[in-house]
Amino acid sequence: MELHTPRLTLRPYSAEDFAAVHRFASDPQLSAYVEWGPNTPQDSRDFLVSCLAEGQADPRAAYTFAITRSDGGEGAGEPIGTVGLTLDPTRRTDNDGATTPAGPGTGEVGYVIAADQWGRGYATEAAAAVVGFGFGVLGLERIRATCRPANAASARVLEKTGMVLEARLPAHKLIRGRWEDSLLYAISGPA
Ligand SMILES: CC(C)(COP(=O)(O)OP(=O)(O)OC[C@H]1O[C@@H](n2cnc3c(N)ncnc32)[C@H](O)[C@@H]1OP(=O)(O)O)[C@@H](O)C(=O)NCCC(=O)NCCS
Repeated sequence: MELHTPRLTLRPYSAEDFAAVHRFASDPQLSAYVEWGPNTPQDSRDFLVSCLAEGQADPRAAYTFAITRSDGGEGAGEPIGTVGLTLDPTRRTDNDGATTPAGPGTGEVGYVIAADQWGRGYATEAAAAVVGFGFGVLGLERIRATCRPANAASARVLEKTGMVLEARLPAHKLIRGRWEDSLLYAISGPA
């Protein structure tokens, strides 16, 4: 499955993407505000394996896309970042083991862009496409995202994607041994 935007193709990862993924995922600048990284080569290989497994899961719990430029120029088609949508479970297991629907679907979006591609609007374009996919194709009711309060670029991406700041979540993520607050952003789908 691919998503297309004016400048980008969002496509599934393959094992051949290792070098491109590891180039940006091993950059300490990218992991300053997230729980993972900087990636070792094994971390990047494990990430690609998890992406392949995710595509085969039934029901599917996540959609992780390689962000690639589609302009045909040098580097087009190579991953310059990642955008993903993780779905919350839509069925609840009761004490007796029976499962029941737990309401309309919700999910969480996240993204990274290689540092040499920052400031060109790519994260906003990719996040907006995935939000549109979540509402339009998957029929989700609500999509949220979190970022660390100091991550002004990410907060700006979420605002430009139409998300609204709802709350500050204290000690929400353990990042390299420190519990960090998060800002919770969300958007509801068409009624
Ligand atoms: C956050 C990130 C994805 C943004 O990617 P990007 O492609 O540069 O984002 P965009 O170009 O679409 O938009 C960035 C916006 O933030 C703004 N911005 C950038 N740095 C900023 C800063 N220090 N303070 C305030 N705004 C900032 C830009 O000006 C732009 O807004 P504008 O269009 O109104 O001018 C990228 O910086 C990144 O990968 N960071 C590391 C990983 C990460 O933090 N991911 C998010 C985890 S919550």
